[in-house]
Amino acid sequence: MKKKIKRLDLIKQWKSQEKIILPSIINVLRSGQYVNSDIVERLENKIARLTNSKYCVCTNSGTDALTLGLHALGIKKNDEVITQSNSFVASTASIVHLGAKPVFIDVKNNQMIDENKIQKKITKKTKAIMPVHLTGRMANMITIRKIAKKYNLKIIEDCAQAIGSKYFGKTSGTYGDIGCFSTHPLKNLNSCGDGGFVILNNKNKYEYIKKLTNHGLIDRNFCETFGYVSRMDSIQAAILIKRIKYLKSVLQKRRFLAKLYFENLKNLPIVLPLEKKFEFNSYHLFVIQTNKREKLIKYLKSNGIDTGIHYPIPIHMQKAYKRIYKKNLDLKNTEKQSKEILSLPINEFLQKKDIIYICQTIKNFFNSL
Ligand SMILES: Cc1ncc(COP(=O)(O)O)c(C=O)c1O
Repeated sequence: MKKKIKRLDLIKQWKSQEKIILPSIINVLRSGQYVNSDIVERLENKIARLTNSKYCVCTNSGTDALTLGLHALGIKKNDEVITQSNSFVASTASIVHLGAKPVFIDVKNNQMIDENKIQKKITKKTKAIMPVHLTGRMANMITIRKIAKKYNLKIIEDCAQAIGSKYFGKTSGTYGDIGCFSTHPLKNLNSCGDGGFVILNNKNKYEYIKKLTNHGLIDRNFCETFGYVSRMDSIQAAILIKRIKYLKSVLQKRRFLAKLYFENLKNLPIVLPLEKKFEFNSYHLFVIQTNKREKLIKYLKSNGIDTGIHYPIPIHMQKAYKRIYKKNLDLKNTEKQSKEILSLPINEFLQKKDIIYICQTIKNFFNSL
C-alpha cells in the first residue's frame, strides 16, 4: 500500500483521547452551564500557572485575544502598531479592526521580525509592537523589550503558534504586556472549535479584558463599557483542561521529530529552521526554505507526503490590505520567503520511520535534479 503521511491528524488525536475527554463533555452537557461557568475559570487558573503569569482570560478565538488585548493597551484610531506581514492575516486584522495602522517590518532569515529595523519605523503615532512568534519560534524579545522601553511602547505578543516556546528560558507571552494565544483545532494545544486566551500580569487590564469578553457587563444588568461576546464556552474549556495535561509530551514529541529532521536533512540546498542554544521552539510548524518549492511539493505529493505553505501571500499583498493602504511596500525577505517556505509534516502521531521516509524522499528529489 502506498504511504500516506499527513501534516496533522485530528481524527487520530480524538480517537486516542476519546475515553478521557468524552465524560468531561457529557458532564458539561448535563450541567446546563454552557457559558460563564466555573470550568472556564478553572482553565484560566491552570493556564496562568503553566505560563507563570498572574492572570489569564479565555476568549473565543486567538483573533479576539489579540483584539481585546489591543483594546486593553489603549490602542485606538490612527495609532500605529509595528508588526510583520508574513503572519496569518488575523494579527493584522486585529489592529485594523481598532482603526489603528499596521506598520510592517521585514523579517530575518529565520522568519522572525527584524528587530534591527524597528527603530527606524517608530513615529509619534507608534503605540505598540506586536511580534509574531511564527511557527513556534520566538522573536528576539530581549531587544524588542529594550526598544519598547526606550520609546515607551507597549508589547503585545502574538503567541498563537507558540504555546510552550521559550526564549532564554522565559515563556512566550510573558516578555510583553500581554500574550495572546489561539486554541484553534490546528494548534499544539487545541480545542474542538474556536478558542483562545490572553495572559498578563496587570490586574486592571485583566479585569477590563474579562469584562470585554462578556458585553462589558459587571453583573447581569450593569454595563460599564460596550464589549463583545467573546467568551470561551464550557465544552471547549472542558476539552482544554484535559488536553493541557498532554502539552508537555506533545512538545517533547515535536522537538524529537524536529531533531530527526535536522539530522537527516543536513547538507541539502535548503534552509533549515535550526534552533539556537537559547531557544526552545515548540515546532507548531516545521518550515524549510527552498527555491525549488513547487517541484518539491509535487514530488512529495506523488510520494504520499502532505505539505503546506504558511503563508503564500504576505498580508501587505492581500487585497484586504491594499484596499485600505494603497501604497506598495518593499519587504524583500518577507516576499522572497513567501515563495520559498514549505511546511513539512510534524505532529505527535508521526513516528521516527515517517520522518526518515520524508527526509529520504527529499534527498531523492535533490539527487534527481
Ligand atoms: C500567527 C497567528 N495569529 C493569530 C491567529 C488567530 O487565531 P484564531 O484562528 O484562533 O482566531 C492564528 C491562528 O489561526 C495565527 O496562526
